[in-house]
Amino acid sequence: MPAPLIAVTGATGVVGGLAAARLAERGNPLRLVVRDPARAPDLPGADVRRAAGYGDLEAMRAALAGADTLLLVPAEESLDRVHQHRTAVDAAVAAGVRRIVYISFIGAAPDATFTLARDHWATEEHIRAAGVEWTFLRMNLYLDFIPSMVLPSGVLAGPAGDGRTAAVARSDLAEVAVAVLLDDRREATVLDVTGGRAFTLAEAAAELSELSGRSVVYRDETLAEARASRAGYGAPDWQVEAWISTYAAIAAGELDVVSDTVARLAGHTPSTLADYVRAHPESVAHVAG
Ligand SMILES: NC(=O)c1ccc[n+]([C@@H]2O[C@H](COP(=O)([O-])OP(=O)(O)OC[C@H]3O[C@@H](n4cnc5c(N)ncnc54)[C@H](OP(=O)(O)O)[C@@H]3O)[C@@H](O)[C@H]2O)c1
Repeated sequence: MPAPLIAVTGATGVVGGLAAARLAERGNPLRLVVRDPARAPDLPGADVRRAAGYGDLEAMRAALAGADTLLLVPAEESLDRVHQHRTAVDAAVAAGVRRIVYISFIGAAPDATFTLARDHWATEEHIRAAGVEWTFLRMNLYLDFIPSMVLPSGVLAGPAGDGRTAAVARSDLAEVAVAVLLDDRREATVLDVTGGRAFTLAEAAAELSELSGRSVVYRDETLAEARASRAGYGAPDWQVEAWISTYAAIAAGELDVVSDTVARLAGHTPSTLADYVRAHPESVAHVAG
């Protein structure tokens, strides 16, 4: 009997793309559900279906027809993200999908400090009530993003205090997703997916200085200073609050979660910031400091 068909969303992006590539290497029947087929990765054995977005119920239902399992990569941040996620879940159920693996966020809860973790909680709740099998992979902050949080001046500023994050590499998250997707025990599980060590942003800045040979410093901000320093970006208030609340969640200790999920399911120790920067020196090239 052929292996069950796995549908992957977000395959034009980093995490979905890495997961899809690894599933294709394993020869697993694969469907890529993308917004723009012209940008879909060309993977052996994968068929590609288009849906304009998670909010397009009928297109999502048609794109998911015949799939057994869905890897649902969360949408880019938007005001109606929860509605889009719920619609994608409803489409999966209508299409007969039996299992949803959803990439959620550490500490997802209705009162999480990180505002977008509240969206993830609402999505989890919808999946729990949908009558499908499920697994939630609660990612920590992306390790890959930390260099990009540094301004060209070498300042990494935010209201994170001396809180810690066990940031995780996107490649490790994708490997965990693949292990879960291919595990036919299909337990209803919530897995925290984190790096191997929790560090402060001051420690990250010191490490980035050492790795880049340029001066990187962490500057703690109050919430008001953080709002003021981002006021010129032209982003709507909800988005600025989302950005700032990432740091506030670190300050509150909500990202100070270290799990053994990567070691257990990906079979290697989690990537470190040093691993990432050594492999991607361009990630610190913008820093002049
Ligand atoms: N943990 C963290 O620190 C962190 C940081 C940033 C984001 N995230 C979340 O993690 C997700 C995956 O990360 P990533 O690095 O793989 O992101 P990415 O490279 O930006 O890829 C996102 C993927 O999702 C697709 N997508 C976005 N919005 C969609 C929508 N409304 N309907 C259907 N497809 C949609 C994109 O399609 P297109 O190619 O067509 O745009 C793309 O394929 C992000 O979307 C975001 O929700 C987490």
